[in-house]
Parts: sequence; C-alpha cells; structure tokens
Amino acid sequence: MRIVGGVGTSHVPAVGAAIDLGRQEEPYWAPYFEKIQPARDWMAGRDPDVCVVVYNDHASAFSLQVVPTFALGVGPRFEPADEGYGPRPVPTVEGHPELAWHLAESLILDEFDITIVNEMAVDHGLTVPLSILFGQPEAWPCKVIPLCVNVVQYPPPTGRRCHELGRAIRRALDSYAGTDAADLTVAVVGTGGMSHQLQGERAGLVNPDFDAAFLDALVADPDTSRMRPHSEYLREAGSEGIELVMWFVMRGALGDEVREVYRQYHVPTSNTGNGLIVLEPVDA
Ligand code: DHB
Ligand code: FE
Repeated sequence: MRIVGGVGTSHVPAVGAAIDLGRQEEPYWAPYFEKIQPARDWMAGRDPDVCVVVYNDHASAFSLQVVPTFALGVGPRFEPADEGYGPRPVPTVEGHPELAWHLAESLILDEFDITIVNEMAVDHGLTVPLSILFGQPEAWPCKVIPLCVNVVQYPPPTGRRCHELGRAIRRALDSYAGTDAADLTVAVVGTGGMSHQLQGERAGLVNPDFDAAFLDALVADPDTSRMRPHSEYLREAGSEGIELVMWFVMRGALGDEVREVYRQYHVPTSNTGNGLIVLEPVDA
C-alpha cells in the first residue's frame, strides 16, 4: 500500500451543476475550471486505486433523526443522493469493502468510535469533489471509501480529533494486508469549506485572508492550527466554515511533513470561498 497524496477541496453543489449542465465554458465558470485543471492532471498522473473521501452528509443519507459523528462506508457501492432535484447524473460510486472493513476494524480497535455504514446515498459533499478531480467519466476511475463527518448538527468534532483520526487512518492503511495490498495506491480527499455562510444576517460571508492562513497552517503547522476553536471558524469563516475541520483528516493521513504541489482559490462560486490544495507526503 502506498499513499500517493491528498487533496483538500470545497464541494460547492453549484460546481457539480455547472459540470452536469455543460456550463464549464461559460464566463462565470471558465476561470474556476481553469484553476482546477492542474489538480485533475495531478490525479490522472497519480491514478490512485482507492480514494478515501472525507466529507459531510448534508441531511441526505442521515436525517436529523440519526447524526453519526464519524461514519465509514463499507458497502460495495453507493448511489448518488437525490437532494431535491433528482440524483446527479454521475456514476455510482464503487466501494472497496475489503479495505473499508480493515479501516473499520483498525480505527475502532484504535479507539475511534466509527459508525459502520453498509448502505447510504452519497450527496454533493462526496460527488462534487469526484467531479472536480475526475471530470465526467463513464465510471469513476477508482474505488471510493466514503467517510462522513458530522459538521451539520452541533457539536461537530474538533480539528484535533479529525487530525488524529487522519493519523489513525494512516496507521490502518499501513497495516493493510488484503489481497491487493502489495500494489495498492491510495489518495485521501478532505472536502468542504472554505469560508461560507449560507443563511442568516451574514449570508454570503467570504474571508480570503482566513482561507489563505488556514491553508498555510494546514500545510506547515497542523499541530497548532488544529486547536482553532469552533467559535473562531464561526466568526472568521461563517457558519459553514466549520466544514474545514474535515481537511485535517486528510492532512493527518499524509504524515508529519508534506510537500505542497498545487493550490487554487477562487471567488465566486455560489456564495463561497472555493479552495483546493494538493499535498504529497514527503516520504512518498
Ligand atoms: C453550498 C453548499 C455546501 O454544502 C457547501 O459546502 C458550499 C456551498 C451552497 O449551497 O452553495
Ligand atoms: Fe457543504
């Protein structure tokens, strides 16, 4: 098993709609899609067998009746969710049950209380990053292990907990001895953010200075920046900026030192600061 790298990216639903509706060349969208092309090229070059995608469900698979803090998809496939406009016209996500069950076992025995999910629909939090990274293929070019983090219902987990979960994922990947373990390549994707607030008096809030500082610290000093309190995300990055804690899961899986390969930041897409970062472990 080898970790080829990690990507953090916003998962703005309007980006998925722009792709599905063929609007990528339109003046509003073209500059954004130009900026993500290097990430697509990087992904195509690394061509991982599996992507572990850390994302939040937006009350699509889980209603407010059940809100798991961390939920891992161990099933063989996950259908795109109907978020009110019909499911996105994207391929079914193929899972990797053997590796996913190993992750579940390793993480739970490592004292992370993961909810095991055999069946769930996956919403824009997961499918939009796949579209950002892979475009519009007939089938997704890799297996996907969905890892849901609750950032919708207070209290979400801390950045520190997410970072430690990422480190535990790395330990789990390193101990994988499944039938395909020898040659397996894995990428980890953290999604959500960046600064955005979708409702209330500050709807439309975008804070590029916060977003840039978040990325700098995510790369260089995650052990300090993971301590940022929820109130600071709320104040500086808006009510949905808290999605950024999920990027720490990706960061933790890459090891202590990373190389920054690419970064883009674009405003506007919907009402968000839309960022993306590509990282590689220095030991890869
Ligand atoms: C929007 C929704 C999201 O889940 C998100 O992370 C960013 C933007 C939106 O509805 O625009
Ligand atoms: Fe979101």
